[in-house]
Amino acid sequence: MTTDPQSLWNAVDGYFCERLAQRDAALEAALAATAAAGMPAIQVSANQGKLLMLAARAVGARRILEIGTLGGYSTIWLARGLADRAIDGRLVSGQGFGREGRVVTLEANAEYAAVARANIERAGLAEAVEVRVGEALRTLALLAAETPGLHPFDLVFIDADKPNTPEYFKWALRMSRPGTLIIADNIVRDGAVADAASGDASVVATRAFVEMLASEPRVIATALQTVGSKGYDGFAVALVL
Ligand code: SAH
Ligand code: DHB
Ligand code: MG
Repeated sequence: MTTDPQSLWNAVDGYFCERLAQRDAALEAALAATAAAGMPAIQVSANQGKLLMLAARAVGARRILEIGTLGGYSTIWLARGLADRAIDGRLVSGQGFGREGRVVTLEANAEYAAVARANIERAGLAEAVEVRVGEALRTLALLAAETPGLHPFDLVFIDADKPNTPEYFKWALRMSRPGTLIIADNIVRDGAVADAASGDASVVATRAFVEMLASEPRVIATALQTVGSKGYDGFAVALVL
């Protein structure tokens, strides 16, 4: 048995992923292509990705918004959670409400977006995912302007530049409906979030986001610490009322 915490967390994540979130060829290829492109290995772990897929299933998601694409690894998990998809991403009904489910994912870096598109296509999900290049705050404003009155998002995953998380949460609320689930990644960051005196922009913003969750009457929310292959971090989850 290993003794240092990170080795132990890795071993447990290894066990859970092996039993419950086995990566298939498309996911492995996405990770390999992301690494080969020199992009940072900061995507969700497989069991976290499966949690996103499961959350999408649980709310019957047909429209999903992701802010922060990287190589599209979490995007693939989310798209597999769309209500009209089999868990390997195959379209199984496509009928339901007369239209197929869709993920819109926002990425500032055009090179990352190109890698993501290739990964998503290899996973057989090209027609289910739209990768939008640009600063997310700008893309969100465009998205809201071009689709007024369109069905709101059923699930929003916030996972981009952390100082903007409060603004992304505001947009998520604007584009939500009662029952929409909003999930935000990386809210703990080795415990830094507990430091009220921190001058770090990500910490300050994460704390502001937590205050919004606490005082916003339109959501019920909680936050959880996690340990695992991604170190010590956490998620916030909010349900729109
Ligand atoms: N969700 C991904 C990881 C995203 S990492 C996964 O788990 O697989 C964060 C991503 O947000 C990076 O690719 C980064 O380029 C992107 N990003 C950072 N600032 C951004 C901004 N202002 N607008 C859009 N994307 C941004
Ligand atoms: C970073 C970003 C992430 O979304 C993540 O899950 C881990 C790390 C980062 O910017 O360092
Ligand atoms: Mg993240």
